[in-house]
Amino acid sequence: MIESLQALQREAHDELSNSRTNDELEAWRLRFLARSGQLTRLLRGVGVAAPEDRPLIGRVANEVKAALESAYEARQRDFEQDAERANGDFDVTLPGRLPRRGAIHPTIRVVRDILTVFQSIGFRVAEGPEVEWERYNFELLNIPRDHPARDMHDTYWIDTPTNPGSMLLRTHTSPNQVRIMERTAPPVRVVVPGRVYRYEAIDATHETMFFQIEGLAVDRGITMADLKGTLTAFARAMFGSERRILFYCSYFPFVEPGVEVAIDCFACGGAGCRICKQSGWIEIMGAGMVHPNVLRAVGYDPDVVSGFAFGMGPERVAMLKYGIQDIRLFYGNDLRFLRQFA
Ligand code: DAH
Repeated sequence: MIESLQALQREAHDELSNSRTNDELEAWRLRFLARSGQLTRLLRGVGVAAPEDRPLIGRVANEVKAALESAYEARQRDFEQDAERANGDFDVTLPGRLPRRGAIHPTIRVVRDILTVFQSIGFRVAEGPEVEWERYNFELLNIPRDHPARDMHDTYWIDTPTNPGSMLLRTHTSPNQVRIMERTAPPVRVVVPGRVYRYEAIDATHETMFFQIEGLAVDRGITMADLKGTLTAFARAMFGSERRILFYCSYFPFVEPGVEVAIDCFACGGAGCRICKQSGWIEIMGAGMVHPNVLRAVGYDPDVVSGFAFGMGPERVAMLKYGIQDIRLFYGNDLRFLRQFA
């Protein structure tokens, strides 16, 4: 019985590879696989086999059947492909399947725009590490351990066995001021984009990860007038050539004096609207003259060189520019949002 099954299988395979047309293939199917075919007929004979032989016969029979079925399907696919190739049987006028096009993320778009403006006036671009030493993120920026300014930087600390409590996820891009001055002799003109992290409750205006762009210019004789001129040029390139700019006193430990920088509202021109919260002004960044302690910490002589620094948030710029109401949209991975920037 088993030998008959195996003989049948060999015969069927030979015949199958000899079949050349669809008619021949169908004839093969009727002969071997159909209900009235040879395999079925052979299997009827199982009934007369000794009961103890039946399980083995049944198993071999099933294997033969499965092998023939898959051989048949494979042959069928060969035929279909040959046929398509032979008569060019596909419609070349059908539109192709277009791959979905990605889009530049709105944050990156704005980051690039901002960097381009500064590059056009002589700044170069640098980057620094997101995992940072406490020293660079705070101490060397004139923020010692008990400084109240640390309260504004809710920090993700990173404990390592060798450095417990002295590494963190940078809370701002300002540590790059120190990193760059440490390895460069003045003059320095640089902008540094990157991710920063804060351990904060998330809401429409707060995320735990967002971007900043840091700027730094140090040379002999740099004054507040250079800061003002540079940032005015930036604001006009970014938000429109008629922009006016407003500086008001503020405090950041690593600059003195420190300022916040606002532009007159590009939506209402200063009359007051929803975007500027009726004030006519929109705050866009922090800035100031680099603190002598910071210059000294990197080995610069504050009696010889001076500089200005600034820091801004590209998501905030994007929210203003594109009218985005909720910062959580940026990193929520909702394609309906992201596709709008394609
Ligand atoms: N690092 C500040 C922050 O994260 C922003 C900032 C303010 C950067 C003033 C500066 C600056 O370079 O001069 O809030």
